[in-house]
Amino acid sequence: MARKPKPWAGRFREPTERLVEEFTASIGFDRKLASHDIAGSVAHARMLKKVGLLAAGEARKIETGLKAIEREIEQGKFVFDPADEDIHMAVEARLIKKIGPVGGKLHTARSRNDQVATALRLYLREAVDEMVSGIEALQLALAEKAKAHLKTVMPGYTHLQRAQPVSLAHHLMAHWEALERDRARFADCRGRINVLPLGAAALAGTSLPIDRKFVARELGFASVAANSLDAVSDRDFVVEFLATSALAMTHLSRIAEELILWCSAEFGFARLPDALCTGSSLMPHKKNPDAPELVRAKTGRVIGDLVSLLTVLKALPLAYNRDLQEDKEPAFDAAETLSACLAVTARCIEGLEVDKVRMAEAAGAGFPAAVELVDRLVEVGVPMREAHGIVGRLVRSCLDKGVGLADLDPKELARHHKALASVKPEELSAEASLAAKRSTGSAAPAEVARQVRRALRRAKR
Ligand code: ARG
Repeated sequence: MARKPKPWAGRFREPTERLVEEFTASIGFDRKLASHDIAGSVAHARMLKKVGLLAAGEARKIETGLKAIEREIEQGKFVFDPADEDIHMAVEARLIKKIGPVGGKLHTARSRNDQVATALRLYLREAVDEMVSGIEALQLALAEKAKAHLKTVMPGYTHLQRAQPVSLAHHLMAHWEALERDRARFADCRGRINVLPLGAAALAGTSLPIDRKFVARELGFASVAANSLDAVSDRDFVVEFLATSALAMTHLSRIAEELILWCSAEFGFARLPDALCTGSSLMPHKKNPDAPELVRAKTGRVIGDLVSLLTVLKALPLAYNRDLQEDKEPAFDAAETLSACLAVTARCIEGLEVDKVRMAEAAGAGFPAAVELVDRLVEVGVPMREAHGIVGRLVRSCLDKGVGLADLDPKELARHHKALASVKPEELSAEASLAAKRSTGSAAPAEVARQVRRALRRAKR
């Protein structure tokens, strides 16, 4: 049988069985919300004083007590007891123990339903800010690496087959762009997180003269939830955070996969420093890219976090249901996982040692400027489809001979089309293909350099 009487024990004839007490308790994980719960309570107490529901002395005692509890938690002196159910009841119980029955006035015009939603919003508001700085740090690592590799030519791929040359800078900045959208999505969902539920009470509001706008101002919320039922049952803001995190993780997994491929002997494009890799317990020669591998795998966890919460919410009737307690672990897990993965990915990008020679060889092999040859024919009026066919036949004859385009002599080129007679071998290199690009957003070195400059300028602000 349970040891402590519950604050809600009045209408119960018997205490909670320990099995149920332990099964329903959330204090094992929602203790992470302690500081947010206390911040919410301090604001609530100040408001109760402002509207005359607490005397000045009572409010002062409550606030001092709450601050002391916060210190106990920070110093590891606070006892987290499953009999208290959750962090919200644990803090309140401790407050009453510390300051006496006046502590029992704190829960005036409030329910755990609006209290828990408030604490979670405060937590996620901070988490969003942390994710945004983690994204910015990774973007900076990408832009700096790109700056160092504006001239490093590598194959661009489609279908993982060599397609057209790009620069490593262009490639890295593609990941920068995806992260930029993640950053914007986090900033956008912050606006919908930053709404105050407190004052909705259990579900229907209160007959007491509370001032919700005052509480919103105290806690830095931009507005007050407009519907008390929605205020306690809405978890869209968590779903948005999880969806944004899952997408950001998906982007990180694509970077991770490329790092793993590039560090393989088959690609040989790059190495990760020893300090960022781990070895094998059996094979003495191994050096494994475990860090990016785990980033790739943890993406599954965060996608799972999103799916878990959507499944909890599906068909859940209004307003609060205990099901909603299952919102917290996915939220914490996604925030902690994404934050760690952003930091690890940034270190891998910073530390990445690129084999420029190997990249350039791969970019130059075969037919790097095939598309430029088509463009050359188009410029003299050959319809694109015809030009495509001409260069295609040229490529086929190279394949038959086992040579590249740059190995063909001018006579051979002229046989396929007279406009190709003047094409020099050096115009068929990977570097020449890059230099020939001129469209906005293309692999053209000047275009990529401009994007890198813009990214670095943004980072310095
Ligand atoms: N621990 C719960 C949660 O995280 C809060 C309790 C809500 N209220 C209730 N009457 N059970 O959602």
